[in-house]
Amino acid sequence: MGMFEGKAVLVTGAASGIGAAAAQRFAEEGAAVVVADMNRDGAEAVAELIRKTGARAHAVAADVAKADDNQAMVKAAIDRFGALDAAYLNAGAYVQTPFEEETEVNFERMFAINLKGAFLGLKAVLPALSKNGAAVVTASTSGVIGLGVAAAYSSAKHGVIGLVRSSSQAFAARGTRVNGICPGPVATAILGIEGVPSIAPADTLEATPYAGMLTPQHIAELALFLASPRSGGINGQYMIADAGFLASYPPMPAA
Ligand SMILES: NC(=O)c1ccc[n+]([C@@H]2O[C@H](COP(=O)([O-])OP(=O)(O)OC[C@H]3O[C@@H](n4cnc5c(N)ncnc54)[C@H](O)[C@@H]3O)[C@@H](O)[C@H]2O)c1
Repeated sequence: MGMFEGKAVLVTGAASGIGAAAAQRFAEEGAAVVVADMNRDGAEAVAELIRKTGARAHAVAADVAKADDNQAMVKAAIDRFGALDAAYLNAGAYVQTPFEEETEVNFERMFAINLKGAFLGLKAVLPALSKNGAAVVTASTSGVIGLGVAAAYSSAKHGVIGLVRSSSQAFAARGTRVNGICPGPVATAILGIEGVPSIAPADTLEATPYAGMLTPQHIAELALFLASPRSGGINGQYMIADAGFLASYPPMPAA
């Protein structure tokens, strides 16, 4: 039996990269998946890919920076699948700009998508999750250390970690947990590698070389763990998946 047999799971940013890998993996593990993204066609394509495997999936076009869209994707999960058992709030956007050239417009955009999006997502999801449900949010290693080439993004991701911690008590009496993931570099569109990632059997994944690029599925597997009862003792935390880069100083020279 799959880890999410009979469960309904919402994934945002699910048209591409980490979210697309996670949506496929949740479905493989038995979940009915709401595939949410502002890219409607992309979300529909991932939902269709999942349905072709025999699993249940429903695409929703949603801009996570809008409160109504967040409420609508939760409603879609409950209307379609009868409940919401876990949510992976993963949508995000990255803009690389030296601090000297950083603009107020970009700062506000990075905060609207990456931080306000996570806030509105948690506001919509947490009260709706079933008992012992879990929310997982994608932050970033640049939410733990500064990123000189992307100050607005990095600042917003620091905020995501504060949000995860600050929201973790809110519904804990019902067993609801909130945790974050801080990926290092992952091979996705954000780093110029476009497309819906293919999925390998989870037990065959290869380790990333020190400080190398992770696959979307490496992050997806962590999201599944944090969204499942297997991580029932973990709440208000973030887990770093960066192939060891931030673990020690000075960094090892590249191989
Ligand atoms: N790829 C990396 O190296 C890396 C590292 C650390 C953190 N992250 C984070 O991982 C998450 C997923 O990114 P990815 O690497 O898979 O990139 P990606 O570009 O492949 O996927 C991001 C998805 O989010 C969607 N999206 C963007 N803005 C949205 C909005 N306002 N509403 C709804 N959907 C929106 C995009 O359409 C896209 O499908 C992001 O939060 C990102 O910040 C990525």
